Amino acid sequence: MKIIPAPSTCITKEGSLKVTAVDLSAENYMSDLQKLGVRVSLCPSQFSPDNAKTDSQSYSLDVDADGISVKAGGEQGVFYAYVTLAQLLHNYSFELPYCSIVDRPRFNYRGYMLDVGRYFMPVENIKSLMRLCALHKINKFRIHITEDQGWRIEIKKYPLLTQKGSVRNGTNFSHKKHSGFYTQDELKDLVAYCKKFFIELIPEIDMPGHSRAAIACYPELSCFDRKLPVATHWGVKHDILCAGKESTYKFAEDVWDEACQIFDSEYVHIGGDEAPKTRWKICPHCQKKMREEGLENEEQLQSLFVNRLAKYLQSKGKKVMMWNEFSPTFMTDKTLIRQFWSSPAKDQTAIRKELSEGIEYVNSDAASCYLDLPEKTVTLKKGYLFNPFIEGAEKGLTGVEACLWSEYVPDWKKAQKLTLPRLCALSETMWTDIPDDKKEYDEFLSRLDAHCKYLKQFGYLIADYSDSLANKTRKFFSWLWFNRRPLHWEGLHNALDNAKVKRKFGKHK
Ligand code: ACM
Ligand code: ZN
Repeated sequence: MKIIPAPSTCITKEGSLKVTAVDLSAENYMSDLQKLGVRVSLCPSQFSPDNAKTDSQSYSLDVDADGISVKAGGEQGVFYAYVTLAQLLHNYSFELPYCSIVDRPRFNYRGYMLDVGRYFMPVENIKSLMRLCALHKINKFRIHITEDQGWRIEIKKYPLLTQKGSVRNGTNFSHKKHSGFYTQDELKDLVAYCKKFFIELIPEIDMPGHSRAAIACYPELSCFDRKLPVATHWGVKHDILCAGKESTYKFAEDVWDEACQIFDSEYVHIGGDEAPKTRWKICPHCQKKMREEGLENEEQLQSLFVNRLAKYLQSKGKKVMMWNEFSPTFMTDKTLIRQFWSSPAKDQTAIRKELSEGIEYVNSDAASCYLDLPEKTVTLKKGYLFNPFIEGAEKGLTGVEACLWSEYVPDWKKAQKLTLPRLCALSETMWTDIPDDKKEYDEFLSRLDAHCKYLKQFGYLIADYSDSLANKTRKFFSWLWFNRRPLHWEGLHNALDNAKVKRKFGKHK
């Protein structure tokens, strides 16, 4: 049947049920189910007794001459039954074929990440993305809320973070200022809003890298107290938080104290990606900390930083996620959930060994899951056929997350067109538990047209995914534009700046 993501099993039968057309809105799903005369019953432990986490998300949906009935393992399962039903009502014009659907999620972590650090996104647009996620049975919405180019979460103890840190004086594409941040009340409202759809809002506060906006406000957070502006252009920055000063740890804990008052999520994400050690190598504070702790290199100092922060958050009852990137990972607490943005290569034996021992991970392999990358590179088909299991480490995989980074996403229109329809394909990878060799891309495409019509009904913009020459040409030019990497002077800028810092401060080592 025409459902995305496809259910685990679906049997259609002879006959159909005419249903009186009503307006449906996921926000009022219980009253909509009543209006439709759906019989709902809860029966915990019936669906997947071996997996308590997904049990409450499972459901069955039956349509026959007696009407529509739903059985679910919990409220969340009722919601997903509703999501399926609403799609069917649209796709079959309120005349439902008799059918029997039994459905449960493949993974417990089905995520969408939005980067609001590079470009601020208004609350109404975020809510619209949350509704879109709900329509795809996604249950984690991760907000990447601090960046080199903007600090966007109000922290009362450090008011400059948003007063100054949320403003950049230009972007890669213009000399115009760009600014915006979320008050704590606005964020609490978002937390409550997505709960209506059984979505958990997870904050990512990226440290020690990607922290130039914070450093612009409080230069003492960096190794050499450098007075730097909020970054205007993207690219990996070398001025990161100093892991040698105790005051940095205090800052991180203070920020998370307030963030944890806002976000009541089970998970939090502490970043950890793209943190060059150029400054740490010549910083007297960092070097002293390494000597005191008996650390051999700066990578181990990052492990120390990560472990301390993770322990702090775990003491608040949080499950802590981080980008899995730096090595050696063996120093890093095994309870941290690793998020991959590139699958470890075959010869990365240390990581592979650790994973094979059961470390929990989320797979966001950029080649399939990065929605900001050109459609010609991260194709719809790649998202659909993505196999998220890392060989030898199948046990630890907890889910998949699609990521929309926003270096190239200045507006709502672009955000939608990069997200759709690729998120539809990825949602099926996240939700539908059919063996990879049974997945048929053409069969998925045969359901996609109706699904896109359904989404358009809510006003969503969807990129052309046809095979037409015009579309291939469009994709080629957007790929070319992306790969031009505008203003790629960043490498030269870093080299010159690094030489300057070394000349001025290098004598400390
Ligand atoms: C990342 O793409 N830097 C996580
Ligand atoms: Zn330092």
